[in-house]
Amino acid sequence: MATMRRPLIAGNWKMNLDHLQAIAFTQKLGWALKDAKYIASDVEVALFPPFTDLRSLQTLINADSLPFELGAQDLSVHDDGAHTGDVSGAFLKALECSYVIVGHSERRADHHETDDTIAAKSVAARRHGLTPIVCVGETAEDLELHGASKVPVDQLTVVLNSLSKDDDYVVAYEPVWAIGSGQAATADQANDVARALRETISSVHGPDKAETTRILYGGSVKAANIASFMSREHVDGALVGGASLDVSEFSSLIQFPKHVTLDS
Ligand code: 13P
Repeated sequence: MATMRRPLIAGNWKMNLDHLQAIAFTQKLGWALKDAKYIASDVEVALFPPFTDLRSLQTLINADSLPFELGAQDLSVHDDGAHTGDVSGAFLKALECSYVIVGHSERRADHHETDDTIAAKSVAARRHGLTPIVCVGETAEDLELHGASKVPVDQLTVVLNSLSKDDDYVVAYEPVWAIGSGQAATADQANDVARALRETISSVHGPDKAETTRILYGGSVKAANIASFMSREHVDGALVGGASLDVSEFSSLIQFPKHVTLDS
């Protein structure tokens, strides 16, 4: 991890926790981090609850001055109009979301989202001042056929061609085979693909953009393995699923600078 890039730990709750559970969870997480004397400038924390929780968490974060950014798990390519069930980036911005996840492999699979759709969603996010977290990653089959980097690099290239170097964005490398499987990539595997993604950013948006853009790793990240990922040059944070739903696990994960790693 390069020191100029502020680490980002992002909790993707997926379709878990209703708004009452979300309030209780976020209060407890705030207390746990306060007790642990967590310093927000060291590590940025962002929460990605279901849409129905966003207003409740916005209110709680503001009322209690909690050190969390808010993000959504998806957005529409459209800004408004006849698109039943979709949610506009404008509405997310009005709830003080900073981030929005685009291109998660579960949306690519469940909703047949293509690279072009994901590029359009990234552009829609920027139109409303949201920072897209662009997810890319290969399946086990892709890995066998093409190696680890080809599919993520191809997916990212389509999105970057639609954005400009002045757009804020974050990239998340999430190998599909590592998501929810308990079988995380090794820190070296994650770093190798993150390096290839950084080179892609450099060739499309230039070396300065590549140097400042954060690249996260996601897929079975937990308190026990976060420090080894964060010890690698090109990994600037994590997109965490299951482990972000447990207060003590997630709070320990956020405090990774305190962990000792034997393979760093
Ligand atoms: P897990 O951490 O549960 O493997 O999920 C990763 C993920 O998909 C985050 O977006």
